[in-house]
Amino acid sequence: MTTVTGWVRRLAGRMGLRQEPAPRVRAEAGWSGNGMVATLNGTGFMFEVRDRFADDFIRFAGESGQPVLEVGCAYGVATIPALEAGARITASDMDPRHLEILRSKVPDHLLPGLTLVPGALPGMDFPPASFHAILCSRVLHFLAGDDIDASVRRMAGWLVPGGRLYLVADTPYGIWRRKIPEYEAARQRGERWPGMLVGLHNYLPGTSPPTPIEKPPFMNLLDPELLARTCRDAGLTVLDAAFIPRPDFISQGRMDDRENAGVLAVRPGAP
Ligand SMILES: C[S@@+](CC[C@H](N)C(=O)[O-])C[C@H]1O[C@@H](n2cnc3c(N)ncnc32)[C@H](O)[C@@H]1O
Repeated sequence: MTTVTGWVRRLAGRMGLRQEPAPRVRAEAGWSGNGMVATLNGTGFMFEVRDRFADDFIRFAGESGQPVLEVGCAYGVATIPALEAGARITASDMDPRHLEILRSKVPDHLLPGLTLVPGALPGMDFPPASFHAILCSRVLHFLAGDDIDASVRRMAGWLVPGGRLYLVADTPYGIWRRKIPEYEAARQRGERWPGMLVGLHNYLPGTSPPTPIEKPPFMNLLDPELLARTCRDAGLTVLDAAFIPRPDFISQGRMDDRENAGVLAVRPGAP
């Protein structure tokens, strides 16, 4: 069986990364490097370099002082700067170990602004109209299409009128570039989820690894228009949908400024 550390090591190798321990998660995840911190549950990495969607969420969270939510927060790459900016934030992740590590990194004086809630999309729930903004970064591509639609509908319902939803996801235009021909052909055929990639070992650049990658069992790669469609179908108004350049991704992880996709959508109505 492929271990989390094993797949992370192989992917990092393909991306040309040095495999050095991260002090805070060394015991659990084995290594980290170049701004990437391995998750503990086979869902890839938390990237310490933030994109403009996460930065805008942090700015809004700090300025508004209203309750906000991060889904799939990992070790707090967005939650901790949001707290430092003055946010009242609920940080959620499917892996309670990630939340414990996050808590250990937050200075005592900021803890009153932080609520930790373990939970997994699409099943997790909050009362309607609980949050003024939600960030869900690099999580949706671990879900099947119907679950992406259900998750975005749920998150839309947790927003107050006027509330902001920030979504970021992986595209085929980076480490998963071997998927591009299938992806673009499926898109041309009008398939609803053209980025479904089963058996990650079959798509890594270079020769296939000797053992299959079992975690995650699939990825569902997305692009700005797919994210925007999902938001519109959930009743949201899309303000911004764009590819996100990731110049910090090195080697095969970096392609042509389309490595990630982001969307900002709002729930109609006055705040
Ligand atoms: C690739 S990391 C992304 C971390 C961070 N948000 C970022 O953008 O760098 C994915 C994180 O989302 C969590 N996650 C994956 N699937 C999830 C789901 N269905 N519901 C909630 N959290 C999930 C994982 O445990 C992990 O912490």
